[in-house]
Amino acid sequence: MLQTRSADIAVIYDSEPACNAVVSVLSGYFAFREIPLEKYANGGSPDTTLNIFCASMDDKAAIGQVKKAIKICQGEILFVLPTHNSDNISQLRQHSKADYFLLPLDAEKFREAVKSALNRPIEKSWSALEPAKRKALKSAVVSFEKCFDQVANGEPIPMDDIVSSCQHIREAAELGGLDSWINALDDHHDYSFRHSMFVCGSLTYFAQAIGIRGAELDQLTLGGLLHDIGKCRVPLDILDKPGKLDRRQWEVMKQHPVHSQEIMHRENDMDADLMAMAVYHHEKLDGTGYPKGLSNGQINDHVRLTAIADVYSALIDKRAYKGSMTSEMALEIMVTLEDELDMDLVHEFRSFTLDKG
Ligand SMILES: [Fe+2]
Ligand SMILES: [Fe+2]
Repeated sequence: MLQTRSADIAVIYDSEPACNAVVSVLSGYFAFREIPLEKYANGGSPDTTLNIFCASMDDKAAIGQVKKAIKICQGEILFVLPTHNSDNISQLRQHSKADYFLLPLDAEKFREAVKSALNRPIEKSWSALEPAKRKALKSAVVSFEKCFDQVANGEPIPMDDIVSSCQHIREAAELGGLDSWINALDDHHDYSFRHSMFVCGSLTYFAQAIGIRGAELDQLTLGGLLHDIGKCRVPLDILDKPGKLDRRQWEVMKQHPVHSQEIMHRENDMDADLMAMAVYHHEKLDGTGYPKGLSNGQINDHVRLTAIADVYSALIDKRAYKGSMTSEMALEIMVTLEDELDMDLVHEFRSFTLDKG
């Protein structure tokens, strides 16, 4: 199931229409279990990460059961109500500040709300990390979301926020420990954020370890964070599809470097090398990549490094259609991709990752 990873969702219902709507919107995207409201209110399921109440609220007894259930519920909460009734909603508000949705459900908005609710405990868990890592992750999750939202709305990249997050990411990388960086992000349910942070972290930790400093390091961190910015223009039903993309969807997905180019082109003073990392990281040394089909001599070192970080991040990530891989397994595959990736850099990256993780 897509992005549910270690999450646990309970759909708690006494309203069939609300429950049916939730089940149809979540199916295929998230794993969940259904529990009758009465049963939940009398025994609960207190360890559930997210509790979605599909509540009829149509009489005193039903409202009473919802109140009882909220009291014993320890995880995140969302409500789905079949109809709007301001009295019922104000009653709910006295017991919970959780978001509520009305039928008909907007599928994308509801799935986004589910993802945010699932991410809240993960983001809270970052408080236990070393201060530099915690600061970097907390800053990046805010600036990355702002960046994706603004750019999707046709606004400029919020460069000040992104550059400030990159500064924190470099400070975190000075401590080493790419493994713990990856682990902290591994269960995050926002795929674009998780992937971009895997790539950005892999580039920054590796570059730092091999002695890259100053403006060049700044550039690799920034380029890593923004390398898939064009994906904000890919429809969510393709970006978050819980299975393999079909031919038409794959063609849409392959446009993301072109979108990145358009987005970055609009920015004043966008560095050409930074743009190259975003636009050409899917090019392959043998000329079979996209969007331009560039080959060996046309692909610079920063783009080669981004391609390595991108392939590595995709392999170790868990998606709906594939399980995650260990670093060792991912690197075993990468050392066979001599037609695509720069093997000198792959071997250097391999030693770094396996030695210093
Ligand atoms: Fe990409
Ligand atoms: Fe990527």
